[in-house]
Amino acid sequence: MGRALLDIYDAELRAGRIAADGAQQAVAQQLDGLAAALASRPKRSEAKGLRRLFSGRNGKQQAPRGLYIWGDVGRGKTMLMDLFFSALPDTPKRRIHFHAFMQDAHKRIQAIRDKQRQGEVWEDADPVKMLAEALKGEIALLCLDEFQVVDITDAMLLGRLFEALYSHGIAVVVTTNTRPRDLYRDGLNRNAFLPFIDLIEEKMEVTCLNGETDYRIGRLRGREVWLTPIDAGNCRRMEGLWRELTDTQRGSPLFLPVKGRQVEVPQAARGAARFGFDELCARPLGPADYLAMAAAFHTIFIDAVPVMDKTLANERRRFTILIDTLYDNHIRIVATSAAPITGLAPRGTGDQAFSRTVSRLQEMLSDQWWVQEQD
Ligand SMILES: Nc1ncnc2c1ncn2[C@@H]1O[C@H](COP(=O)(O)OP(=O)(O)OP(=O)(O)O)[C@@H](O)[C@H]1O
Ligand SMILES: [Mg+2]
Repeated sequence: MGRALLDIYDAELRAGRIAADGAQQAVAQQLDGLAAALASRPKRSEAKGLRRLFSGRNGKQQAPRGLYIWGDVGRGKTMLMDLFFSALPDTPKRRIHFHAFMQDAHKRIQAIRDKQRQGEVWEDADPVKMLAEALKGEIALLCLDEFQVVDITDAMLLGRLFEALYSHGIAVVVTTNTRPRDLYRDGLNRNAFLPFIDLIEEKMEVTCLNGETDYRIGRLRGREVWLTPIDAGNCRRMEGLWRELTDTQRGSPLFLPVKGRQVEVPQAARGAARFGFDELCARPLGPADYLAMAAAFHTIFIDAVPVMDKTLANERRRFTILIDTLYDNHIRIVATSAAPITGLAPRGTGDQAFSRTVSRLQEMLSDQWWVQEQD
């Protein structure tokens, strides 16, 4: 079995660019296995002849088993997939974000349907199979980053598309935060989706990359995360911290189900969420809502925490509940604020509970809190 990726991984280690991680090495080894399978498949020109000689009943060659890499955020899934991708100069391949791939797939299928309507393409042909056929002419390997299924149109297409990709011998590698059997959980018409999960388990090697370390968190080690005052420089710093932790400029809005309600999260990305102070503490939210946030995210960014004087007593009460809940769940906080922590409640306005909030916040901003793993 080749070890091209393991060699690259070792070189990165020796150069001090990455830290040794046994879980990652195990996945690198599996990817090397896939690389070997890809290298041993017949070249396109040879394929026809070989197929004629050795083909089974339907004349289709066996696809190399793809790899389904799932695990928590920041474990190095994307990094490994990208190293793998760049280690295969001779393989026709594509590496694309899952959403972009699905958008493109829907578009191409629509174009085929349009042609069928205009009589340019045989109307009984299956557009999904035609798309896979076209892809076969373009690539032997498809790497999909951040695979997730939330959309019913994607859910209904994926099974047929993957089946067709597989039958054309195209290997697929995906990175995702979701294990196969949890995909599209609670989705509409999920029963129709279940055969796709079976297909993944049958045709792909499913591997869990869940090392101890969230390397993205490590990037923020030793950084100031309570930024005061709220000025242009600190807002810029806040943007920078968000980008470093999430690898995105802006998160996507999200709705958390809480007791039959939907609580809006204005921005979410890679296990982090971002709120304006008012969105967290001026709305009528309570312990259940904050608990749902603590369950969904490892880090909460809060823009513009004000000094909570008498006029903001309700906000201060909610802020206290918020911090208690985040503290109990070992959630990390990044904020811009009008005041340092000890100045959040002017003398005479803070109560007993708030002094606990202050003390907890101080602990939560420490380096140790940041790098310590959550349960
Ligand atoms: N062994 C390592 N040593 C140091 N840094 C690492 C290591 N592995 C990964 N990283 C870095 O950690 C960051 C997060 O890794 P990566 O983006 O691959 O995580 P991921 O598992 O894809 O996370 P997500 O599920 O959020 O997409 C990257 O900047 C990556 O370069
Ligand atoms: Mg990733």
